[in-house]
Amino acid sequence: MGKRVFNFYAGPATLPLKALKEAKKDLLDFRGTGMSVCEISHRSKDFQAVMDEATALVRELYAVPEGFHILWLGGGASTQFFHIPWNLGVEGRPFAYIHTGSWAKAAIKEAKFFGEVKVLASSEDANFSYVPRRFEPDPNAAYLHITSNETIGGIEWLSFPDPGDVPLVVDASSDFLSHPVDWSKIALLYAGAQKNLGPAGVTVVIVREDLVARARAKSLPTMVSYATHVDKGSMHNTPPCFPIYLSMLALRDLKEKGGLPSMERLNKRKAGLLYRLIDSSNGFYRGVARKDSRSRMNVTFRLPTEELEGKCVAEAKARGLIGLKGHRSVGGMRASIYNAMTPKGVKTLAQFLREFQLANA
Ligand SMILES: Cc1ncc(COP(=O)(O)O)c(C=O)c1O
Repeated sequence: MGKRVFNFYAGPATLPLKALKEAKKDLLDFRGTGMSVCEISHRSKDFQAVMDEATALVRELYAVPEGFHILWLGGGASTQFFHIPWNLGVEGRPFAYIHTGSWAKAAIKEAKFFGEVKVLASSEDANFSYVPRRFEPDPNAAYLHITSNETIGGIEWLSFPDPGDVPLVVDASSDFLSHPVDWSKIALLYAGAQKNLGPAGVTVVIVREDLVARARAKSLPTMVSYATHVDKGSMHNTPPCFPIYLSMLALRDLKEKGGLPSMERLNKRKAGLLYRLIDSSNGFYRGVARKDSRSRMNVTFRLPTEELEGKCVAEAKARGLIGLKGHRSVGGMRASIYNAMTPKGVKTLAQFLREFQLANA
């Protein structure tokens, strides 16, 4: 095997090594078919078995209750930004959003094409460094949308707000399957795969039956309607076969590692290690997020100067610690430590950051 680095990119992101090795094998001969997993028909029983297993594993690991459908769609989470208001809009009822940063902003922008958007709370007053948990609900809203983890800013809803009778819609692209969630609060949850699940190219949408019924009652383009994808088992058109297959392997790995309770413990430990290091650095490292809103997935921090940040990224890279530069829109540093990032990777990063401080403070 060639060299593997510790990959802290925000997405596409590091994947479980075991899943990659298995995929390597199946790339030439999938389960004795003599064909690549990329060459078999999506209508074959071999691929149907992949789809069924991937769906069953999401249901089992996330404890998704009966009455929710699990869909595997193309187009990325960004496509859901407009599919959601298009499918779920109700005449005379606004769309409610909580504005927490770059990805909430992108979702709000798309919803505006379909009707009135009410932003019930925003953390713009503090540069999106916290989750605005206090807000006045709008009981008339068609739905309430939150971004459970802001990948760029590094803030996370560690528990979801109570939406009352309004359906709660969650963009969980960057903390999907990283901790158990309370499905009694959620009506629709979606995530691009390329951070916490698998490779880019597939988006998982978990949607409650009553919201599918809303879509069914409308006249929508075929590929837009959730009803199409429910009725056709995500196979109305050719699904993103390889990303679904590799996601299935990553889900198996997650199950072997003890599922979500164990993954949540691990994620807390990994994030805790980095935040403790930041907090004990006498101000050399400064966390971007407010302490009560810190993301366990994307740890964002600053150094005393941009010059030092550049030096830190470059020296980390030379040590095999890759992808630590913050998003270009905000600068700074970001360590993305999704499910597949090993504790060893985080410990190696912490050790490097300690040494970097000693040499540069
Ligand atoms: C929280 C969040 N939502 C949505 C998106 C957009 O996802 P995609 O690139 O799959 O459209 C991203 C991508 O990074 C994200 O982090």
